Amino acid sequence: MWQLNNQKNIPVYQQIMEQLIEYIQNGQLLPGDRLPPERKLAETYHVNRSTVVHALDELVALGWIVRKRGSGTLVNEGNWGRTANPRIDWRRRLADNHFQQEAYLVKLQQQLKSVQSLDLYTGELPLNLIPSFRLPSFKWETLLLEEQKQSPLGYLPLQELIVQRIKKEQKIDVSSNEVLITSGAKQAMFLLLQVMLQNGDSVAIEDPSFLYSLPIFATAGIRLYGVELDSQGMRVDQLEQLILTKKIKMILVNPTFQNPTGRTMSLQRRKELIDLSRKYQIPIVEDDVFSELAFVDLPPSLKELAPDEVIHLGSLSKIFGSSLKIGWIVANRDLIVRLAEARQMVDFSLSVFPQVVASTALKDPYFNQKQQNLVDTLKQSARDFEKELKLLSNDWQFEPIEGGLYAYLTWKNKKLTRKDWELFLDEQLLVAPAFLFSNDTMSLRINYTRLNQENLAVFFNKFQQITDQLKQK
Ligand SMILES: Cc1ncc(COP(=O)(O)O)c(C=O)c1O
Repeated sequence: MWQLNNQKNIPVYQQIMEQLIEYIQNGQLLPGDRLPPERKLAETYHVNRSTVVHALDELVALGWIVRKRGSGTLVNEGNWGRTANPRIDWRRRLADNHFQQEAYLVKLQQQLKSVQSLDLYTGELPLNLIPSFRLPSFKWETLLLEEQKQSPLGYLPLQELIVQRIKKEQKIDVSSNEVLITSGAKQAMFLLLQVMLQNGDSVAIEDPSFLYSLPIFATAGIRLYGVELDSQGMRVDQLEQLILTKKIKMILVNPTFQNPTGRTMSLQRRKELIDLSRKYQIPIVEDDVFSELAFVDLPPSLKELAPDEVIHLGSLSKIFGSSLKIGWIVANRDLIVRLAEARQMVDFSLSVFPQVVASTALKDPYFNQKQQNLVDTLKQSARDFEKELKLLSNDWQFEPIEGGLYAYLTWKNKKLTRKDWELFLDEQLLVAPAFLFSNDTMSLRINYTRLNQENLAVFFNKFQQITDQLKQK
């Protein structure tokens, strides 16, 4: 008794606490027993008296022991043992937290605050390109009245507008009970995971994929398996292998202007993917948040090709910015009911305010024209960017941008490590290296829409310098 095991990674006072609790729990110390005096304990433990005092103070606070004037320190005879742990070890707990950030991202977050930084990392349009709409001046009561138009599937006027858009833009024949309005596409995914999957299930995604960086899968206990992309999109041969070996329960793809590669799945590959989904009865979730930013004609969506097998996700975030947080799920009506119920159960109700704002924008008679202007502007930015980028094509490989927000560049020279990418941060050029989306350390994603006449030259200057430095490595 009274000897510590000397666990180096735990502070001594905590070791003392743990030992005393252990003695109380296993009956070596009984309720009402008196502990040796502090000075004596310090001697036997070979520690300073203050360390013992610290440990005893904590045990008093937790209710294991009591100090009685004139009688010394006694094991509590009351509700002792209610608190099973001496103290929550926050540092240890947070160490395996799924929300913990990559070191690169921690540094990047700091740089994002600096006005000198060029932010090509953020996955949204810059403010000056987001179409603006005149909002009517609502009275408070009017807004509250709009609340009555909320259903479990969302604010009904917005739901109807989105149904119309899906029919027109996606050529998907949907009815309103097949569409659930969500707080962005991310909430849509979160709900799908909750309702369709269980802890330990496996999901196939593209490799690289922005989903790789989202903590929602790990926190739900879902395993992600990456399937390589080739020039046509997700490789179905690899996917089939995975289905056969890993019991894949869901295929989650972003087939149009994929995040991060910007690549669009070919029609042939879409059909092969659907065939595979039918063969093994595995649902496909089509994350389709970029298709309205296309400079080229697109192949039909997976949902259009296979309405029964495919769950379709959309969002307004890529046009209006993510602060509006409006997305949707198009799926079989029974599933929609389950998803809506799940949302109510976890109390993720959707506020009417952003939905009213989104409805106003979608109803604007100039909406389509503004969207077209945006697409034209992006196309021009993409061409200006590519023109300059060609000058660096000995070192960087890239594909023409056909829409969406991203350019994906791959380093052609010697292997890069994660550390090498910090050069970009040091130069205050904020980009997204591929290791945020996969195990790859050779590519980067750039949100080219954030480059304009003013900062394009600055960007290429810095990019050239970094390229030269990387070549010398
Ligand atoms: C491919 C893709 N899907 C979904 C989302 C999430 O969209 P939302 O802002 O609507 O939650 C993003 C956002 O970056 C995305 O890039």
